Parts: sequence; structure tokens; C-alpha cells
Amino acid sequence: MIILGIETSCDETSAAVLDGGTVKSNVISSQLVHARYGGVVPELASRAHQRMIIEVVDEALTKAGVTKNDLQSIAATQGPGLAGALLVGLCFGKAMAYGLQVPFVGINHMEGHLYSNFLTKEKPSYPFVSLIVSGGHSMLVHVKAPFEHRVLGQTRDDAAGEAFDKVAKMLGLGYPGGPVIDKLSVDGNPRAINFPRSYLNHDTFDFSFSGIKTAVLYYLKHQGLFDPDLGELSINQQHLADICASFQEAVVDVLVSKTLLAANELNVKVIALAGGVSANSSLRKRMKHETEKRHFKLFYPPLEYCMDNAAMIAYVGWMKLQRQIESGFDIPAVANLELT
Ligand code: KG4
Ligand code: ZN
Repeated sequence: MIILGIETSCDETSAAVLDGGTVKSNVISSQLVHARYGGVVPELASRAHQRMIIEVVDEALTKAGVTKNDLQSIAATQGPGLAGALLVGLCFGKAMAYGLQVPFVGINHMEGHLYSNFLTKEKPSYPFVSLIVSGGHSMLVHVKAPFEHRVLGQTRDDAAGEAFDKVAKMLGLGYPGGPVIDKLSVDGNPRAINFPRSYLNHDTFDFSFSGIKTAVLYYLKHQGLFDPDLGELSINQQHLADICASFQEAVVDVLVSKTLLAANELNVKVIALAGGVSANSSLRKRMKHETEKRHFKLFYPPLEYCMDNAAMIAYVGWMKLQRQIESGFDIPAVANLELT
């Protein structure tokens, strides 16, 4: 089955073509317009999706060597995400499916991340524990079988990626912050500053990352590095690298320990990382080390499937259509769609 996937939930306009679950193309256009604002501006995101959607879909078809008449189904992200951004891809997908008279299916973006490790040859076996960490979400999910999953815990405030982005903004490093902090951390000492680890109670798999973000702000102020009136930071390169590495270490500590705790408690030996933050080199390294020690199997997607992408949406669409699950053309975009 040749399926077109469309993803426009945040600031990536993406389209992908899959044939029988195999990726034939995955085109991602990242919106650069947000960089100067230090975060995604919803209205600008919707407009950029509108400008890019036709071009991105055309490119995905061309790269896959198919025309629109070869498409047998279409999947598009229904939520969660920015309402206006979601509407662009969802309406485009519905209209195309209606015009081509092919089945349409709306996809939960988080389900996309959950199955992003199935886009490569070696796939996780069930049951597995998934750590989904992105700009909008941080959650631990127990996946027992296809579409049989239970959310174990999620963030109570900021998502892990959001914390990276906000700290990067404080440090004047631009947006998105994760990749820059990751890069600068290589030359920093992760033990230079002891930022707080918010483990919450040991009986919860929830996360909280707003405290560490505030701790970084207080550190900058107390060290006299930050002038809040001018909004300026005066800091040398080594100190900056140390702050980045110490912040990253604190976030990674919490993510790794909660994930291992969940796997231990559920007696699950397969762990899958997903979402933008799963690109983080320190998180990957630490997870690799800890899972090897325990003889667990670890999966993380290649970079293009960590970030928001349409291949993961098309894959879940393909899984659903195989199970005769499709959507009506009346489904709405749902900004806070839950992973149930
Ligand atoms: O999954 P994603 O592309 O979009 C959302 O659904 O949010 O994730 C984007 C997030 C951003 O917050 C970005 O800073 C973070 O992922 N990110 C990283 C890295 N690469 C991207 N965070 C830490 N280390 C990275 N290498
Ligand atoms: Zn995402």
C-alpha cells in the first residue's frame, strides 16, 4: 500500500511516502522564521505551513518516484500541536484524499513518535518502554502490543526539549536550543555546577523540568553573569560550556533513571527513545551504557526520525489502515489530543 503522510503540528512542514511500511521519501522543511523569537510563534508557523505544503508534498512524491494517482491512502497529524498549524496539514490531507477517492486517517502525533523506531530495519520487539522527549512532551509509555499502550508518566510543567530551548534562550544561544547545548557541552564539565535533579516521588514516573530552568537563571544572576535590566549575559566560552554540560547532565540523569525504573518495575527489557531530545548525544551515550550493563535492548531513531517528520505519521497510518481503521472527513484538529 502506497501511503502519503503529512505532518504540520509545530514548526516542521513534512511529507513522506511509504510503500508497505517502507520509507520511500521523507521531506522535512524546518521553519527558520522562529529563530529570532527564541520559540515557535503559532501564527507564523501556520502561515509558513501554508506557503510550504504544496512544495513539500510535491517533493516527497517526486523523491519516491510516484505521482498523486499512485497514492492509495493518506494520513495526516490530527493533534496534539498548534491548532492553526495542525489545520493546514489536516485539511490538505483530507482534501487530497477526497479528490483522489482514497481512505484518509488522522494520526496522533505522539503515536507517530512512539512508532518512529519501526521505520528502520531492526524494530523493537514487544513489550517495550518508550521515552518520548520533545519540545512539547516528555512521557514514558509502556507499549505491550501494537496500539496497546499505557502512559506511565509525563511532565507536570515544561517538556525536556522546552527546558533546553528556554535555557538556550537565557544563554543567548538561539532556537532550537537542544542541538546547540548538546554541541557546547562536549567541551564542558558536567560536574562543574550541581543543578537540581527533580525526581519527584519515587512512586511516580512523572517529570518536572521547570525547576532546573529556574535554577540556571538564578545561577546566572548570583554569579553576576546576567543583567536582567539589559537582558545581557557576559560570560566566557569555558564557563558557558560548563553551564551547558551541567544542565544537560541534570536533565539526562532524570530521564535515564526514570526510564530504567519503569523498565525494572514492569520487567521490560526493551527501551525505545523517541522525539527531538532523543537526538541528544549524552542521553544516547548514557542510555547505551546503562542498558548494555543490564543486557537490555536499546533503540533510538536516526536523526531525521527523531525530529518531527511525516514518515512516522505515514507509518502509523499504514498500521491503522491494515486494521481497517480510517477517519471521516469531519475529524477536527485537536490541539491537546491525548495519547490514550
Ligand atoms: O520532536 P521535535 O522535533 O518537535 C516536537 O514535537 O517538539 O523536538 C524538538 C525539540 C526542541 O525542543 C529541540 O531543542 C530538541 O527537540 N532537540 C534536542 C536536540 N535536538 C533537538 N534537545 C537536546 N539535544 C539535542 N541534540
Ligand atoms: Zn514531535
